[in-house]
Amino acid sequence: AIGIVAGSALLESCMKVEPVPVSMAEDNFSNPLNIPKIIQNPKNYVMNAKTTQAKITNKGTTEIMSYLENIPTGPLFRMQKGHEFSTSFKNNLDEHTNIHWHGLVIPANMDGHPENIIHPNESFEYRFNVNQRAGTYWYHPHPHEATARQTYMGLAGMLIVNDTEEATLNLPSGALEIPLIISDKRLSNNNLRYNPTMNEVMSGYMGETITVNGTAFPYTEVSSTTYRLRILNASNARIYNLAFTNNLPFTVIGSDGGLLENPAKMTSLLLGPAERVDILVDFSSLKINESVFLKSNTFPDGSKAQGKEEFNFMKFTVKTIVTENYQTPARLSTIEKLSMSSKTRTFKLQMKMGLKMSHQINNKLYSSTRIDETVKVGDIETWIFENKSDEPHPMHIHGLQFQVSERSSKRGILPHEKGWKDVVLLMPNETVKVTMKFPDNKGKYMVHCHNLEHEDDGMMLQFEIV
Ligand code: C2O
Ligand code: CU
Repeated sequence: AIGIVAGSALLESCMKVEPVPVSMAEDNFSNPLNIPKIIQNPKNYVMNAKTTQAKITNKGTTEIMSYLENIPTGPLFRMQKGHEFSTSFKNNLDEHTNIHWHGLVIPANMDGHPENIIHPNESFEYRFNVNQRAGTYWYHPHPHEATARQTYMGLAGMLIVNDTEEATLNLPSGALEIPLIISDKRLSNNNLRYNPTMNEVMSGYMGETITVNGTAFPYTEVSSTTYRLRILNASNARIYNLAFTNNLPFTVIGSDGGLLENPAKMTSLLLGPAERVDILVDFSSLKINESVFLKSNTFPDGSKAQGKEEFNFMKFTVKTIVTENYQTPARLSTIEKLSMSSKTRTFKLQMKMGLKMSHQINNKLYSSTRIDETVKVGDIETWIFENKSDEPHPMHIHGLQFQVSERSSKRGILPHEKGWKDVVLLMPNETVKVTMKFPDNKGKYMVHCHNLEHEDDGMMLQFEIV
């Protein structure tokens, strides 16, 4: 009984971790936003991961891990649907790594399975056809127990797929289309540090400095028209309640797996780790030199896990007045709805006491030698994620895109969840059902929590498509 009491006290203390407050000390937002280098249809692109120095704030440089010179944001790959992607990837780190192409429907041996690791000074050729709809995808390392640290230290980038259906819509492009990769970092004396305490392993590691495309306190100049922002939450654990100051509304046009059927006007939305949202925002109500901030609002009522705070993290200033009037298309795409299947599997998301506290799924910790679920090519299944814990869990499935079929809480299915998704955010005590059809890619894939500390802690299972 004493053990149980001590255990629940430990449980209590683990759950009461407050998120690291976001620093607003340097709130002048004077650092120009970095725009990742764009590589079109990479063919035999030479890429490496290495340790280097970067300037994240204007106070000097810090050591990071990088896929590109001196920038903690990898190249932005732009693929035309139907093209082959190929890169020869060299590991110049002094530890093993690999790359997971998050959201892509590709063969298992290209997916960055935690067992397919690349040792220091070795290379691997990633080569696959990109045959899925236009959307905002991304990539990051996936070696078990090092995913969180390596991603946090700067190894992450965006991969955009374009297709002809999307092209006919004439969405804002060129300078009017901005990728925004959000990641919170912890900088002590300007040094990027990944050193979570035991409690932070349990809750997730958060930083006090929010970076966008690797820049802290960024600003960008815009004209008074409609922009397309492709937003990726590349943070290890932090959830943002995205909004603009002055309650400026925005229009959601896409999610993880591409365009929604219809645009949806919103003023805020929760974006969990690894989720993407594609939005249109109209700056035409702003006067010259007027600014608006991208911010995170306090959380909607009932979510006690994080975000008692509210903070700005990126500034847009209108520098040119233009008069053209952009019209958002009334309809964006067609999404064939998958009805819920009678073939279901349940995944219980738990915090369990063992030798130490750990995050588990169905009473299991990740093991590379165990296949947890076996599914068949072409089958349609509904997976049920049950979050019985007091923490949020952004659940991700590799190798496919799914549809959110049901959420138990009164939040229901949100407007930006009505398209294709590969991550779904479960707030405490929610149950969410997702429906998917298994693609013709046989092999082993992962299902896991994308709070990267939870994932490295073992909150990950393996399924095999046969
Ligand atoms: Cu972006 Cu297995 O994750
Ligand atoms: Cu989790």
